[in-house]
Amino acid sequence: MNLSTTIAGVTFPSCFMNAAGALCVTREELEALGRSAAGAIVTKSMTIEARHGNPEPRYYGFSGGSINSMGLPNLGYRAYAELIPQLKRFGKPVIASVAGLTEDDFPTIAELINVAQPDLIEVNLSCPNIPGKPQIGYDPDASERVLKKVRPKITVPMGVKLPPYFDPAHHQVMGTMLGRCGVDFLNLINSVGNGLVVDPERETVVIKPKGGFGGLGGRLIKPVALANVRAFYKFFGERMPIIGTGGVIDGGDAFEHFLCGASAVQVGTVLVEEGLDAFQRLEAELGAVLHRKGYRSIQDCRGRLKEL
Ligand code: SIN
Repeated sequence: MNLSTTIAGVTFPSCFMNAAGALCVTREELEALGRSAAGAIVTKSMTIEARHGNPEPRYYGFSGGSINSMGLPNLGYRAYAELIPQLKRFGKPVIASVAGLTEDDFPTIAELINVAQPDLIEVNLSCPNIPGKPQIGYDPDASERVLKKVRPKITVPMGVKLPPYFDPAHHQVMGTMLGRCGVDFLNLINSVGNGLVVDPERETVVIKPKGGFGGLGGRLIKPVALANVRAFYKFFGERMPIIGTGGVIDGGDAFEHFLCGASAVQVGTVLVEEGLDAFQRLEAELGAVLHRKGYRSIQDCRGRLKEL
């Protein structure tokens, strides 16, 4: 089965890749992604300075998914700028994920990272886990300022990783804004921010940062992710490729993302829980679903969700 896909003119050998944050901080992790069946290497969202991130425990897996408050642990953008040319030798696209602690950090990082020529740059406007820093993606004016600062600094396609929205008015406002900023692709969604998981036996929260509040991922967020993929697919149609992220645990989940309009999917929780072998399993499962339903490629089923 052909599971290749194209996003903003870049061809990916497989439609499955890691979500920024999952097994992609260090050189070793990034090289392991290069050797794996993943369709791309996505870096951890990088900041100006290297960061250890938030205090541990900061990740907790449970039956419904996961909660994390990693706090952007990363090597700092200069280290990733050095690594990217080496990662490109694995022969699959490299996506550099760019974050920032201030609005001006984003263009600074993007400009230097662009020199390293990743295949795409993803601007992360949606990390919920930095104490005292609200998610930029919930502020359309701030989002527009950041994207308009980054766009002229880079020559590769620019994507945006957004938080989940829960009202059509927000899809409308953000879609209209994104249409003004030269955005080439969307990644929907980041974790569902500031959830709270409770351990009733110990009568405690399960992660240390922010009093236990953290980003939810995995199985329980799939309907939220699908809704955002669908809403933005309907807003932009074919002119805006979408990476669907959220709740992809098996090949059937990926198929649902494609029906809603995604062109590729990223996996976070399942990768952390299962390791790199998850990619081969997901590819086999999606191939079986497509075959059973008579589709020959992702393009054949993309966006074809029927309404009642
Ligand atoms: C984190 O490092 O806290 C997660 C990154 C993100 O949600 O963008």
